[in-house]
Amino acid sequence: MAATAHACGKVILLGEHAVVYGVPALAVGIDRGARARASALDEGPSRLVIGGWNVSVRPDDSHDLARAFRALLDASSSTRPLTVDVEADLPPGGGLGCSAAIGVAIARVIEPHASAEAVQALAMAWERVFHGNPSGVDAAVAARGGCVLYRKGEALDTVRVRGPLQLCIGNSGLASSTKAMVDGLARLRERKHDLVERSFEAIRTLVSNARLAVEAGDRSTLGRLMDLNQMLLGGLFLSTPEIEHMCGLAREAGALGAKLTGAGGGGCTVALVPSRSTADAVLSAWRREGFDGFATNVAADVMAVPHESGAAP
Ligand code: PMV
Repeated sequence: MAATAHACGKVILLGEHAVVYGVPALAVGIDRGARARASALDEGPSRLVIGGWNVSVRPDDSHDLARAFRALLDASSSTRPLTVDVEADLPPGGGLGCSAAIGVAIARVIEPHASAEAVQALAMAWERVFHGNPSGVDAAVAARGGCVLYRKGEALDTVRVRGPLQLCIGNSGLASSTKAMVDGLARLRERKHDLVERSFEAIRTLVSNARLAVEAGDRSTLGRLMDLNQMLLGGLFLSTPEIEHMCGLAREAGALGAKLTGAGGGGCTVALVPSRSTADAVLSAWRREGFDGFATNVAADVMAVPHESGAAP
């Protein structure tokens, strides 16, 4: 019988870019992500099929996805040849952790009894093929969902989410390169060091308050903090007219806050919404102006230990 597994996508709620310079970032797992299905083969070699992308590769092929698949298989204890079928419902390259979600889903389906840490380690073997030296936040969030505070070089700090967090994610329609955006900000920091550092310090304060708001279930405050983060990102030339337009449309439709998520310069916008009906209003407003989007919830943290009274394990 074929086994199946799922992994979450990720959204940075606050702190992108500043995180590169040691400021913490707040990230959440979303219930959109990737699914993998594995079926045993009588004989090798194994095969990776990603239906929606027209990809079908074997571990010895030269395609990046084949190399990543091989790296993951080599790091696993799997010895039987397999066909792994993957479907992802995230835009690739949209800053939503698509590749990490696929890596985690494959790791889980190959090693169904592995711990979350072991799954993350396998997914990192996959991620390194695409990202060289990934921070690991995408794989960690893909494996566990929930909300985390991530600080470069430090262990992930789990943030307990009180109450539901509903998000709308919209695509600005322009692709952007994370590397180009990070390099551009590094150049700005060389020229305007004090201005950029002051923005990072302000973002640090916003992130720390956002953590408290998430823990308190105070979504209005979280939304306002996202708006302020967006203003600072705009001041660092990381926003675009399309993203600003999408943020304005979302706020007019009732969103509690809206900002770019990830690298900026294109890519995706995230809006925090108070209800499903506001989510629908935001998505319609975006669609009317030609922007695709979807509503999603923050995925439950699979590692969270229930400690509310009467919670069953
Ligand atoms: O678009 P993504 O998910 O690769 O996010 C980029 C986040 C940055 O802070 C801009 C870069 C980084 O390495 O953290």
